[in-house]
Amino acid sequence: APARFTLDPAFSVGTVDPRLFGSFVEHLGRCVYTGIYEPGHPAADEAGLRTDVLELVRELGVTTIRYPGGNFVSGYKWEDSVGPVESRPRRLDPAWRATETNAFGLSEFMGFLGKLGPEAEPMMAVNLGTRGTAEAIELQEYANHPAGTALSDLRAAHGDKNPFGIGLWCLGNEMDGPWQIGHKNAEDYGKLAAATARAMRMIDKNVELVACGSSSQSMPTFGAWEATVLEHTYDLVDYISMHAYYEELDGDRDSFLASAVDMEAFIENVVATCDHVGARLKSSKKINISFDEWNIWYNARFQQDFDENPPDWPEAPRQLEDSYSLTDAVVFGSLLITLLRHADRVRVACLAQLVNVIAPIMTEPGGPAWRQTTFFPFAQASRYGRGRVLQVEAESPAYTTAKYGEVPLLHATAVLDEQSGEVTVFAVNRSRTRALPLEVALHGTGVSEVVEHSVLADQDPDARNTLAEPDRVVPRPAEGATVDGELLRCELPPLSWSMIRLA
Ligand code: AHR
Repeated sequence: APARFTLDPAFSVGTVDPRLFGSFVEHLGRCVYTGIYEPGHPAADEAGLRTDVLELVRELGVTTIRYPGGNFVSGYKWEDSVGPVESRPRRLDPAWRATETNAFGLSEFMGFLGKLGPEAEPMMAVNLGTRGTAEAIELQEYANHPAGTALSDLRAAHGDKNPFGIGLWCLGNEMDGPWQIGHKNAEDYGKLAAATARAMRMIDKNVELVACGSSSQSMPTFGAWEATVLEHTYDLVDYISMHAYYEELDGDRDSFLASAVDMEAFIENVVATCDHVGARLKSSKKINISFDEWNIWYNARFQQDFDENPPDWPEAPRQLEDSYSLTDAVVFGSLLITLLRHADRVRVACLAQLVNVIAPIMTEPGGPAWRQTTFFPFAQASRYGRGRVLQVEAESPAYTTAKYGEVPLLHATAVLDEQSGEVTVFAVNRSRTRALPLEVALHGTGVSEVVEHSVLADQDPDARNTLAEPDRVVPRPAEGATVDGELLRCELPPLSWSMIRLA
């Protein structure tokens, strides 16, 4: 039987915030050094930024970029990263057992954003691990105050006369995780986050603030953590963060393909928790979600290697350089679909990370840059997934998974661009063996033809793009999609990501 759903512009989820297509640059491995920044590289510009990477980041369609960590930020002194490069200190980064040279810092990051385009915007994390409220507002003064104070004048003396205007801030990172430098319980973190938020709002009442939620749904404190933190911060913050990484474990590919089932439930559980706290506080305010780390990450493999062979403080080592298969890209696509399906409450999302470190873009030092398989669903969703997300309640054949029981083979969303009138369907077929016929009733959408059906699929589920073969897996046009009256008919190949554009 085909999978089916009905689209009707009268029934929508919400409008996509461009910040849903954010990413993340952490001082980790080669994300910064030999990733976005490599003075001396043949493609480097006068600032040492790799123009080949800049071009790919633009093509990826990334908007908000979170910086500078991650676990890194919890041991970070922002003052180390500003001023003349030759006087910046080298420091140990305990989070990743690396040496940080600080050759790249706040000003260089803002320069990088400035070269990306109008939608690029910083999302700055403050250190609430080894530091606190005082250092957070000092950084805010340095970054945002126009002039006439010690720190704003210092910024100007460092060559940045104009304030950076950073409007979106994370109050620490993963403070619920015992691995985090300065890890705290929910009560202590909630108080610190509230005090810091209060002070930052005294400086600028319009800052947007993200409180740390749980590092994953499987944390033992999940749920209680969010509730306690929000009891302290509800009136002071705008967002609670969510982080989720998925990987294939024990060869259970069918469950891996259904990872979005976990992500959907995670979002719904956090939304429920936010609204529960809001109800108890008799508040009409809604806390939204900043899903500021999400991706596929072969973390179990990384952890074991990291524990068995702790790095000996190298500079910019090859860490977390996962190579993504077609299968990973299909799961990744369904994670993106999940974010879009919850666009009413997920207002910020950051693909972790941007270059080399669990990333859609890879580079070789001194050599080329290329797109991983996961690059394509993101680029297509960022380009065409703008507008109003329509409700999709699909009927679909299902398959059985060890982790999630019966799971529909189809995972889909659709976005109506009200300016152009185009509707774009994003769909994943989780079946590893069967093509999935799809029928979509297009009630009142006004669209009558297929502009494009692009498919990411491959005979080899483990196919990937590498330095030697960078274009092994790319999206290809698919044949056969038709609109007849108000009915779209098409076929989704086995194990595939599809984008179907209708006008
Ligand atoms: O993105 C890699 C790491 O994952 C981040 O540093 C941390 O916040 C998370 O655990």
